[in-house]
Amino acid sequence: MNNNACCAHKDPHKKEPEGVSRRDFLGLAGIGVAIAASFTAIAGIFRMTKATVHYEESRKFKIGMPAEFPVGTIKKLDDKKVFVFADTEGLYAISCICTHLGCIVSPTEWGFQCPCHGSKYNKDGKVIGGPAPRPLPWLEVSLHEDGNLVVDAAKEVKKGTKFTV
Ligand code: FES
Repeated sequence: MNNNACCAHKDPHKKEPEGVSRRDFLGLAGIGVAIAASFTAIAGIFRMTKATVHYEESRKFKIGMPAEFPVGTIKKLDDKKVFVFADTEGLYAISCICTHLGCIVSPTEWGFQCPCHGSKYNKDGKVIGGPAPRPLPWLEVSLHEDGNLVVDAAKEVKKGTKFTV
């Protein structure tokens, strides 16, 4: 009979190979998992204390003093993506973001045209051609306490709403 094949008759004087035994390894692995789980739980607690709501940057911006917008003004504020007009009835702002897929429209003799897919809008922003599903929104214009005009790109107003100082 081969003595090496039988585990029950281990030689008590025979030395185990150096290194980590299976039992030690499993014990260390268990401790590692427990530590990782604790860190995850603690991180979760800290995460819960933080608000998950992210506030968007305000879309209200000053455009200048009323005297800068005499009757006949047509001003495109490229960085704000807004047109500002002044006529004899007042001052108003229309978004220049195409309601189809968001390209920037350009002013024309008859209104606005989108360079991307050809949507056309009349001077009031009403769709007169192309795939745009909605008119260009008119935006709220108000006066700041410091005397500057303010456009709120997040507040749509009824078409034809004009601000007078
Ligand atoms: S984005 Fe203006 S027509 Fe498509």
